[in-house]
Amino acid sequence: MKAEPRRRGVTYDEADLLRRARTVRARAYAPYSSFHVGAVVLTEDGQLFEGVNVENASYRMTTCAEQSAIATMVTAGVRSPIVAVAVVGDGEDPCTPCGACRQTIFEFGPQATVYASGDAGRPLVTVIADLLPHGFGPRRLAQGQS
Ligand code: THU
Repeated sequence: MKAEPRRRGVTYDEADLLRRARTVRARAYAPYSSFHVGAVVLTEDGQLFEGVNVENASYRMTTCAEQSAIATMVTAGVRSPIVAVAVVGDGEDPCTPCGACRQTIFEFGPQATVYASGDAGRPLVTVIADLLPHGFGPRRLAQGQS
């Protein structure tokens, strides 16, 4: 698939993002759910960060793939807005980000495009504002400060 120009001059190939997410998924640590997820985030300045889900015997400590990728981005000192997120999970249907991940994506990429895929069919392509309508984010919090 050819690279497509995106807003604010960022150019990327969505098929490449999904390929990377599918490849990194192999590193997921998911011995409890056996549901492996890989994620890639692309920032406006062209950097890519990958993540996988990391489960724990104390189940509620699980970290999702999207959150792993974004934590890696923040650890690298990057604050450039996220313009695209690719998520690939096991099974046929698209792996759409969970509610907590939607909130995390919204924090760093309120205009992000989200590509969600499984192992069959076409990816679901949407934007975070549609996955998290009327989302609460940094802008709203700043309004409340005096
Ligand atoms: N998971 C993700 O990594 N991202 C999501 O958006 C959905 C769920 C993981 C968490 C858990 O390790 C497994 O998938 C099953 O819920």
